[in-house]
Amino acid sequence: MERQTPILEVDHLTVVYETAKGDVIAVRDVSFSLYPNEIMGLIGESGSGKSTMAYAILRMLKGAARVVHGTVRILGKDIYLLSPEELRKFRWSHFSMVFQSAMNALNPVMTVEAQVIDTLKSHRPHLTRLEAKERALELCELVRIDPRYLKSYPHELSGGMRQRIVIAIAIALEPSLVIMDEPTTALDVVVQRSIMDQIRDIQMRVHFSILFISHDFSLVSELATRIAIMYAGQIVEFTDSHSLEDRMSLHHPYTEGLWNAIPKLANRNIVIEGIPGGPPNLLKLPEGCSFHPRCRYKSEICSAQTPELKTYGTYEIACHHVLDKEGHHD
Ligand SMILES: Nc1ncnc2c1ncn2[C@@H]1O[C@H](COP(=O)(O)OP(=O)(O)OP(=O)(O)O)[C@@H](O)[C@H]1O
Ligand SMILES: [Mg+2]
Repeated sequence: MERQTPILEVDHLTVVYETAKGDVIAVRDVSFSLYPNEIMGLIGESGSGKSTMAYAILRMLKGAARVVHGTVRILGKDIYLLSPEELRKFRWSHFSMVFQSAMNALNPVMTVEAQVIDTLKSHRPHLTRLEAKERALELCELVRIDPRYLKSYPHELSGGMRQRIVIAIAIALEPSLVIMDEPTTALDVVVQRSIMDQIRDIQMRVHFSILFISHDFSLVSELATRIAIMYAGQIVEFTDSHSLEDRMSLHHPYTEGLWNAIPKLANRNIVIEGIPGGPPNLLKLPEGCSFHPRCRYKSEICSAQTPELKTYGTYEIACHHVLDKEGHHD
C-alpha cells in the first residue's frame, strides 16, 4: 500500500484555538497519510480534537481556530495554498464531507433533487439538466433511496434518509476523499447499522478513501482497516483494526482503556472498565506523556519524557511501556 501515492497527506499539523486564557492546542503535531480506497478510522474521547482536525483538513476552520504549523495535501496539492476559487472547485470534486447533522447540511427550502442537481451543476456546468437528473437517479440507487423521494423536502424525510441524501451529495462528483465526522451518531442503532453497511457497500462499488471519525470503537473497527487513536490532540497510536483484540496488551494503554469501555455483549465475563479520570486541560498538558495521570502502567519516565510514535510490527504506538506492559496482565 505504501508504494501508492497518498490521497491525503497530513504533515506535522498543529491547530490552536486562540482564547483569552491562551492558546488551546486542539491538534498537536499530527502526521499521517491516507492511500487510495483506504478507510481509516479516527477515534478518541469527546474533546480529543477529532473534529478540529477534520475541519483543518477540509480548510473549514472558523472563528478562533488557526493552523499554526504543518501542511495538508490532498492529491498532492497543499490545500492551504489554493486560492478561494481553486478551493471551491477542489472541494466536492476531489474531497467532500459528511457531518453528524444531516439537517444542517441540507437546505430546508429546496427539494432533495434540486440540491443534488445544484451540487452537480455548480461543479460540472456543461452537464445538461437531463444528465444531472439521471445522475441524481443513479445516486439514489447507490444510497438505496426510492427515487420518488427526490421530490421531497428534507423535513419530509426520516433522519436516516436525510443522512443517505447527504452521503449521495458527498459522492455525487466522485471525490477521492470523503471525511465523515460521526455520520451516524444522531441516528438510532438500527438505522446506524444499515447506514454503516451502506457506506461500506458504496465504498466498495465506487472506490474512494474515507477518514471516518467516531468515538464508537466497535463501529470503527468493523469499517476501517487502519485506526488512529487520538488523545489530547495527539495521535497516540496507529493500528490495524483486524488484529486489535488478539493482542490488546500490545496496544497503547489508552487504546486498551477505550476498547475495554465497549460493552462486550458476546462475552459477559469480561469486566467492563472505563478509563479513570478525564481528559487533560489543553491549555496546560501534563509533562511527559499527556496520558500518564490516568495510566495504570505509568512510571517515572512517563512524566519526564514525551514518548514518540514507535513502530511495532504493523502498529505505531507512543508509549514508554508498550513492551513491558504485555506481561502485566491478560
Ligand atoms: N471555539 C473554541 N474555543 C476554544 N476551544 C475550543 C473551541 N472549540 C473546541 N475547542 C477545544 O478543542 C478541543 C477539541 O475539540 P473537538 O471538537 O475537535 O473535539 P472532538 O474530538 O471532535 O470531540 P467530540 O467527540 O465531542 O466531537 C476541545 O477539547 C475544546 O477544548
Ligand atoms: Mg467532534
